[in-house]
Amino acid sequence: MGDQPLLVMDRIVKSFPGVRALDQVSLTVRRGEVHVLLGENGAGKSTLMKILTGAYPRDSGSILLNGNPVEIESPQQALALGISMVYQESHLARHLNIAENVFLGREPRYGSLPGLIDRAALWEHTREHLAELNLSLSPRTAVRSLSAAQCQMVEIAKALSAEARIIILDEPTAALAEKEIDRLFGIIRALKQRGVTFIYISHRLEEIAAVGDRITVLRDGRTIGTVPSATDPRELIRMMAGREIGELFPRDFSAPGEELLRVERLRREGVLRDISFSARAGEIIGLAGLVGSGRTELARAVFGADRRDSGDIYIRGESVEIDTPEQAIRAGIGYLSEDRKLLSLALGLSIRANVTLAGLKKYCRGPFIHQGKEYQAVESYIKELSIRARHPDQKVRTLSGGNQQKVVVARWLATEARVLFFDEPTVGVDVGAKAEIFSLMNALVRRGGAIIFISSYLPELLAICDRLLVLSRGKIVRELSREEATQEEILYYSALGN
Ligand SMILES: Nc1ncnc2c1ncn2[C@@H]1O[C@H](COP(=O)(O)OP(=O)(O)OP(=O)(O)O)[C@@H](O)[C@H]1O
Ligand SMILES: [Mg+2]
Repeated sequence: MGDQPLLVMDRIVKSFPGVRALDQVSLTVRRGEVHVLLGENGAGKSTLMKILTGAYPRDSGSILLNGNPVEIESPQQALALGISMVYQESHLARHLNIAENVFLGREPRYGSLPGLIDRAALWEHTREHLAELNLSLSPRTAVRSLSAAQCQMVEIAKALSAEARIIILDEPTAALAEKEIDRLFGIIRALKQRGVTFIYISHRLEEIAAVGDRITVLRDGRTIGTVPSATDPRELIRMMAGREIGELFPRDFSAPGEELLRVERLRREGVLRDISFSARAGEIIGLAGLVGSGRTELARAVFGADRRDSGDIYIRGESVEIDTPEQAIRAGIGYLSEDRKLLSLALGLSIRANVTLAGLKKYCRGPFIHQGKEYQAVESYIKELSIRARHPDQKVRTLSGGNQQKVVVARWLATEARVLFFDEPTVGVDVGAKAEIFSLMNALVRRGGAIIFISSYLPELLAICDRLLVLSRGKIVRELSREEATQEEILYYSALGN
């Protein structure tokens, strides 16, 4: 009984029209372990978990819990079996408070009366779960006002309240700052002690070693193998990719050229304070700072997506009017947003439509779109970025998360913008794709562009940027040259209350 695995997924097959997403995938999870699922974008990780949580039916294969075959045909059924999923994009109801979300659909009732929710019990149980997670929030706090990290904790509280035995985390650290990641790991370890089992999807190899026990690698919808988490990262990459990955940070530094963008005294009440900086051709400038420090707000204000109260923008020394994204695009500024679903992608449209949307004019002859040229261009981006798709006309909705991200990158490349804001472009993409995005960024600045690169992942910023601007509470508190910048320096200035 002690050696009986908690969960066995055996030879699972799942096809979508035109793709076999899972081809006899097997996964064995032991009680109380953190089992990592690793694989490149499109390998089948999310699909496998959606089958486990009853979101998709499988074509064949079986699932055993404690050695007994189970049928999981709906998320409710999965929950009843103690299987709970914490999604990357929060699925919480934003208009409700924490307690209402934690017990949504399972509210404690007075006796057997159907209509009466026992409010006191609702608050009390929620308070207990929040305390378990060391969260000092009132159960009555509106979910709308929570940070991404707090939303995630509420999702975990929800899983605990449902007495989940298996908690699935899909890229849980993507939206978290370093400190919040440590805290999440602390909670995972504590819950593990109490017998909770985790299935953990992530692309960050160093965090896998820190928190994982064993790793199962998927590639092209097949199981490659299960190995201990101490396995050499190079071996893991080889298992994932089935090929050698090029240099991860292929940056060649050279003297910057003419000034492309200058921002002077940009202000936005309560958000941005007196921001001035410039970017020159050939430069990658990093924007460092904690979540909420104003990095995304800065990008949005320069791009015309948010209003500004004052401040001037110059392109190649000439003052430009930018009050809308259209004006920004015309001025040669692009913004690759961090929230690829909400702001950037039309999920119901094809890859081709999404890529050419922003730069459509290039493919027009008079009023007509030149289809041949458009296809050619889109096909070359699909190849350049290794987007896993069958056809340029495939709907973006049917791509894996990481491949959707690459479509956003392709879209901005197609506009030929000279100044590009990249807001967390590597969140959710695998090592192979990451190397491809960095090499593209390198190529873009070598061709005379400038990139303003927002990332919460310091090793990345340090490796690829010419210089760094550290933001804290809407203000640039420090500029660090490549030589001066270290993780400690950045964290120190990020935390400055000024
Ligand atoms: N609803 C769908 N319709 C059609 N194809 C789909 C659908 N969902 C997934 N796929 C395809 O199944 C394959 C596996 O996708 P999946 O989302 O499981 O990948 P993943 O390993 O989670 O990748 P990522 O790291 O990018 O999130 C991909 O080729 C994807 O395009
Ligand atoms: Mg996925």
